Amino acid sequence: MTQKGKVAIVTGAAQGIGVEYAKGLSSMGMRIAVADINLEKAQAVADDIINSGGEAMAVAVDVSSKESTLEMAKVVREAFGAPVEVLINNAAIYHSMRMDPMSKVDIEYWRKVFSVNLDGALLCIQAVAPQMIEAGWGRIINQTSSSAYLGSGGHYGCSKMALIGLTQGFAKEFGPHGITVNAIAPGTIFTEATEVTVPEVIKDNVVKMQAIPRKGQPEDLVGMVKFLCSDEASWITAQTHLVDGGTAKRL
Ligand code: NAI
Repeated sequence: MTQKGKVAIVTGAAQGIGVEYAKGLSSMGMRIAVADINLEKAQAVADDIINSGGEAMAVAVDVSSKESTLEMAKVVREAFGAPVEVLINNAAIYHSMRMDPMSKVDIEYWRKVFSVNLDGALLCIQAVAPQMIEAGWGRIINQTSSSAYLGSGGHYGCSKMALIGLTQGFAKEFGPHGITVNAIAPGTIFTEATEVTVPEVIKDNVVKMQAIPRKGQPEDLVGMVKFLCSDEASWITAQTHLVDGGTAKRL
């Protein structure tokens, strides 16, 4: 599966899963914008891709800001001289997130989580979609979570469930333009963020609940992203694809 020369933005790609998404799309021949609120770490990821023979740039973005997402779309287009045709909405408040129960979650914190996890995807799509419409082709993938289906997801799970609705709405709107919009719902992936965020007892239980009882890794998700970005997936849209070692399906 190749998509040589196509321009892709991966948000939240300065660490964790986003890094592997960026590298995976680069392996398809795409030119990658590593977009993150942490520019220094994003630059290191872009440098790594360039050193491996790919084309990449780093771009600073706060996905919860309309101005920032518009600037990102503009800067990436100018840098690569071509429209952005792939957008992976992977940025989220996940690392070190608070695990307050729903009955106690502070409304300001709730809004903060939604402003990044949900509004961030909306704003990035609104900023980038005109370029895809111009190109007559596009791939948008929203990173949700299997926790959207699990009561234990709390406020984070709510934001990820809402992202599924956003995926369906945009799929309907953009289908006539040759743009597919899908979501990926990973199970627990043992990134640095998971090590910090998820309590030990939950981590142990999660692996036992899986049909494939080993720790999920970012690399386990990359095949799905590459497939959804391929021409072979041109009639697959509005779907949420669980990649979770068989967790949610077993509940
Ligand atoms: P992470 O917390 O390590 O990475 C998130 C990235 O988003 C970071 O680089 C961070 O700087 C960036 N970011 C945060 N706020 C931002 C903002 N306002 N603007 C731009 N960038 C921002 O998380 P990880 O583990 O790599 O997960 C990546 C994605 O996958 C997230 O959407 C997460 O919710 C989702 N996910 C993760 C799972 C896991 O077990 N690790 C499971 C299911 C979904």
